[in-house]
Amino acid sequence: MANREHWGSKMGFVLAAAGSAIGLGNVWKFPYVTGSNGGAAFVFIYLISVVILGLPIMIAELVIGRHTEKDPVGAFKQIAGGTTWEFVGYLGVLSGFFILSFYSVVGGWTIGYIVKSITGSIAGLHDTAQASEIFKQYVANPYLSILYHVLFMASCMYIVIKGIKNGIEKWSKILMPLLFVILIALIVRGITMEGSLEGIIFFLNPDFSKITLNSILSALGQSFFSLSLGMGAMITYGSYLSREDKILHSALWIVLLDTLVAILAGFAIFPSVFAMSLSPQEGPGLIFHVIPAVFARMPLGQFFEVLFFVLLFIAALTSGISLLEVVVAYITDEKGWSRRKAVLVMGSIITLLGIPSALSFGVMGNVTILGNTFFDFMDKLTSNYMLPIGGFFIAICLGWKYGLENTIHELDPDTRFISLKELWAFMIKFVSPFILFVVFFMLIKDDIVALLQKVF
Ligand code: PHE
Repeated sequence: MANREHWGSKMGFVLAAAGSAIGLGNVWKFPYVTGSNGGAAFVFIYLISVVILGLPIMIAELVIGRHTEKDPVGAFKQIAGGTTWEFVGYLGVLSGFFILSFYSVVGGWTIGYIVKSITGSIAGLHDTAQASEIFKQYVANPYLSILYHVLFMASCMYIVIKGIKNGIEKWSKILMPLLFVILIALIVRGITMEGSLEGIIFFLNPDFSKITLNSILSALGQSFFSLSLGMGAMITYGSYLSREDKILHSALWIVLLDTLVAILAGFAIFPSVFAMSLSPQEGPGLIFHVIPAVFARMPLGQFFEVLFFVLLFIAALTSGISLLEVVVAYITDEKGWSRRKAVLVMGSIITLLGIPSALSFGVMGNVTILGNTFFDFMDKLTSNYMLPIGGFFIAICLGWKYGLENTIHELDPDTRFISLKELWAFMIKFVSPFILFVVFFMLIKDDIVALLQKVF
């Protein structure tokens, strides 16, 4: 498309893409998954999977985006038009639609917790049981859950409506540096507390006896979700790259920043958790149960608590806008709608779709699909199925159907490491699809066995 909008600067693009990658996956999920999987040993496996799986697929998505300058559906139409491969694009857009609907519910909680920490209603909660009770009551309240979910969606829509340069890029350039500053402040606060050393040791000293097949699978799945891969978010962001931008270089930066924030989030959380003699194995509630209790006991706790939830909100927002942009890019590119109309209509539909997820922790808690609440169903469907399937077919389609010879020139022409290109080609053709296939199979094995047992 001749008049396609482009990122204003390379730095703006890297910050926006890093903003997509850095999200609840890093600050909320990574610490608790690490906490329940043996600390440093898990981090080690996570790092390996970022390099062998995450980086090649990240490059592949950016290559497809810049090469075609299209949304995911348009991109696959161009590289594999008229064939069934087009479904990979549709699958991506649908994933964006689904993920945003429940992601926004958690994004809403972060707004609710900012309000709670400012008004002081969670100050002074010394034990986690009390904090957990408050959290349960809060997420079970249908009005508050929906209100904050709508507010989160409205924030995403406000930014995306303004477009790439004046919306997504502008806000990422403000929010991402802020995120780093807050994160550093929280780390300094955490590690200067008495007793924090134990937390640092937990995070740095690997205990490989805790590593099981399941923790390896979690590390692979986690790296994928955290880097926003498998649904065309990076295809979409890549489609606004200009010809001069260097993909390898940018991809390295995005992956580096995302990984850095995951690790830093661990440093911000575990030292405080240990300093306060709390358990690192709290699971998904780690942030919402443990953190208020941690802050309640530290000097200037309320101030740092507000900062912490602002950090979570920023992380969620810059990811939410990338999810919405995938859907909006499809509608504007393929259906010819104006950006404004696409954002308003699609944003509203996603908001409506999120309502059952918002109610999953309260009034709709008993409504289940295949044994899961609506929220868990959406989460599982996308993270365990749609993203790995999407990633698998992105690699196969680029590596085998379209052919790497047609796209390899998209990689930095002046790179001194020509062999890096060949390494990437090898990864995308053989290694990534193989790993994804195995991961996917392992992840769904239990679900399939359960389903078969039900049928027979
Ligand atoms: N990467 C985001 C996170 O870590 C989630 C996300 C997944 C965003 C897929 C966009 C696409 O929270």
